[in-house]
Amino acid sequence: MLFILVASCNKNDRPKVDKMVIATSMKDQNIEQYKLENSNGVVVELLNLGGIITSIKTPDSSGKIADIALGFDDPKKYLESHPYFGAIIGRFGNRIAGGSFSLDNKDYQLAVNNGSNHLHGGIKGFDKVFWDAKSFSAINASRVVLHYLSKHMEEGYPGNLSITVTYTLTSDDILKVRYEASTDQKTIINLTQHSYFNLSGDFASQILDHELMINADAFLAVDENQIPTGAHTAVAQTPFDFSSFKTIGKDFNAENKQLEIGNGYDHCFVINPSETAMVEAAVVQHPKSGRVMKVFTDQPGVQLYTGNFLDNTLTAKNGGTYGPQTGFCLETQHFPDAPNQPNFPTTTLNPGETFTSETWFQFSVK
Ligand code: GLA
Repeated sequence: MLFILVASCNKNDRPKVDKMVIATSMKDQNIEQYKLENSNGVVVELLNLGGIITSIKTPDSSGKIADIALGFDDPKKYLESHPYFGAIIGRFGNRIAGGSFSLDNKDYQLAVNNGSNHLHGGIKGFDKVFWDAKSFSAINASRVVLHYLSKHMEEGYPGNLSITVTYTLTSDDILKVRYEASTDQKTIINLTQHSYFNLSGDFASQILDHELMINADAFLAVDENQIPTGAHTAVAQTPFDFSSFKTIGKDFNAENKQLEIGNGYDHCFVINPSETAMVEAAVVQHPKSGRVMKVFTDQPGVQLYTGNFLDNTLTAKNGGTYGPQTGFCLETQHFPDAPNQPNFPTTTLNPGETFTSETWFQFSVK
C-alpha cells in the first residue's frame, strides 16, 4: 500500500485538512483519504471512494478521544462488499418498490437489489463510485468538496445528474453535509449519509444502551417487503416512541410486527414540522462516555437503522467483528418509495432546478 502525504494546511488553531493517496490496482483510480481536524481533537476521515466517512474521532467527557464510526482500518476494504459503511447514498436512498417508477407517463426500471426492491441507488450506487475531491481550509472550518456526474440512465435513472457533496468540520464540532444537484432531464433524487455510530467507541459493545430522542410523532409503517404502506403511524404507545429520551434497547425486543419485519428498528420517522429550515431531528446520548450527538436536517424523514444485518462477518477496526446492533444509523432523507406514493413529498428533480439539502452532526459531551 502506498501512502503519500500530499497536502497539509494548519495556520494557528484553524481546523485543518490533510490528504493521503492510496494506490489501488485499478487504472487511474487511487483512493484519496482526507482528514479534517479541529483544535478540540475532533477528527473526521473520508474517502473520494463513495464519499465514505471512515472514522470520526471525538472526546468523551474525560477528554479521551475515540473513534465512534464503524468501518475498516484499511481503506481498500471499502472496495469489497460492505453494508454502506459511512457512504453517500444515491441517486435514491432507501427502497423503491419493484425498482420501478414512472415520470411523465414513462416507466423506468431500476436494478432490483433487495428482495423485490431497489435499494440505495442500485448495484453501483454513489457509495461505490469515485468522486472528484478538493479540500479547503478556512478560519472556522475545513472542508472537502466532492463532485460526481451520474450519467443519463446510470443504474436506470434518467438524466445526467451533477452532484456535489460538501463535508465541513467546524471549529465548534459540527460535521456538516451539504448536497447540491442538478439534472438535464426530469429525474428522482433522495440522498443520504449512511454512517454507523457507536458513541461508546467500543465496537464490540451494542448500542442498545444509547439514549435516543427523535423529534417525530409518527413513523412510516412498512409492509413485509419493507415498503411504506403510506400511512403515518403514531409512535405513541408503540416501541417507536422516542419523543423523549429512551434507550434504544428499552423496547427493542418488544413483540411488535414492525420490529419483526425490520429485524429491529429499520424505519423512517416523520420529522415534526418546524418553522426553521434546519430541524433538530434526533439526539443520541451515551451515558457511560458522556458523548452526545445531535442530528439536524432540512429533510422530512430520518431512517433509524440499528445495524440489524451486521452478522459478525466483517472485521472491526480494533479487531473483533461487527455484530448485530453494534452501530446505529440516522439517515436523513425523503420518504422511501416516494416516487410511487403520491401523498409523500415529491422527490422529482426538474431541469433548471437545483436540489439542495443539509444535514449536521453535532458532537458534544454531557
Ligand atoms: C438501510 C436499510 C437497511 C439496510 C441498511 C444497510 O438502513 O434500510 O434495511 O439495507 O441500509 O444494510
